Amino acid sequence: MDILSIYRGLTLPMKNITGENAFRQMNKANDWEKQTGRPVIHTEIGQIEKPIPRVLLEGIIKSLNNEQTGYVVSPGIPSLRQAVADYVQSKTRAPITLDRVIITPGAKPGLTTAIVALTKKGDGVACPVPGYSIYSDMADFFGNRLYPLYLNPANHFRIDPDDFRKIAPRVKLLFLNSPHNPTGSVASWSEIQEIAKIAQRNGVFVVSDESYSEIMLTDKPARSIYEVEGLRGQTIYLGSSSKTLGFSGGRIGWCIAPDPSTAEKLTTFLGNIYSCCPEFNQAGVAAALQSLAESGEAKQWLDELKLHLKKCLKILLSGLTPIETIKCHEPEGAFYLWVDISRTGMSCKQFTDKLLEQQWLSVLRGTSFGPTGEGYIRICFGGLTLEEAEIIPDRIRDFVTS
Ligand SMILES: Cc1ncc(COP(=O)(O)O)c(C=O)c1O
Repeated sequence: MDILSIYRGLTLPMKNITGENAFRQMNKANDWEKQTGRPVIHTEIGQIEKPIPRVLLEGIIKSLNNEQTGYVVSPGIPSLRQAVADYVQSKTRAPITLDRVIITPGAKPGLTTAIVALTKKGDGVACPVPGYSIYSDMADFFGNRLYPLYLNPANHFRIDPDDFRKIAPRVKLLFLNSPHNPTGSVASWSEIQEIAKIAQRNGVFVVSDESYSEIMLTDKPARSIYEVEGLRGQTIYLGSSSKTLGFSGGRIGWCIAPDPSTAEKLTTFLGNIYSCCPEFNQAGVAAALQSLAESGEAKQWLDELKLHLKKCLKILLSGLTPIETIKCHEPEGAFYLWVDISRTGMSCKQFTDKLLEQQWLSVLRGTSFGPTGEGYIRICFGGLTLEEAEIIPDRIRDFVTS
């Protein structure tokens, strides 16, 4: 038996994992760029390209100058855990003690850990579809039964609490994501309260993925299910510096467990995988979250970012809306444009592949977010310049009319 077949045998269960298509598409676009020697406009990966807040950078440099480059405690350095507790408390009015806060490399590990800690094989897990694919990918991998909550364009891609009510008795865990990737939809306060009531009545744990909670494109603040006092004992709150502070490469996120003993379980599992997050990045994020809470430079950075995102969105919408064969869903939050391309007659894969090859524009195909994403593409405007936002509709118009 050769090494490869042993390896294949060992990794057989991994065959079901599909992973995040955005990274594959980014790779493909980079290859195309190298192969053709012409720059691609990247809108596939969900990130901000703006330089990180100064306070964050200075916090990292200070920590590195102090040679803070060794292992640290698994749940995270106390100053960051306290900064996260204060920050989330100020947003949600939930009292949070430091022993419930765990620092993770981005929000992503918290998703899987919640499944491991709160469910057993065969338990029902409800996920929004379309939605961030890692929820269903990992729940499926761990042998859970998936209950899709289909998001309807007629309901602006928000979860309909009645749909959740129907499946709740069979569900152990619900993934909630508002503002939502990929549609930018934002749950209303009454929908959140209704979902919370149903979860409470049926003993459903809620993982509230609040990665985009700071990125609102309207004047309304995003409301959180963590504001519902009676549900906090069965909620895991997830946040991240990736979108909040544009620090996606720094890999610092946070997970707030319902109680200290669950936090300990989560920490043990996570510690077995990566031991701890880099101290210097944690120190930088601690300084930035404090600055955000005190309306300092990080808050100004975020305000400037949102202003820029709103301008990009306006340019994109005014250029794309007149194109007859496509239809944009206007987002309320996050930095994604969810575009219906079904009338072009192309599958989303054909559309995405050809658009890259013919127009040097990299978008993400809708099926990256589940089967009902067929007929859609996602455009991330988080990393665009205003000039790029102007060019994108021209390229798409040329493409669909050629
Ligand atoms: C909804 C959602 N949750 C979690 C993540 C993970 O982000 P990170 O691990 O960088 O915090 C992403 C990334 O795009 C996302 O869109």
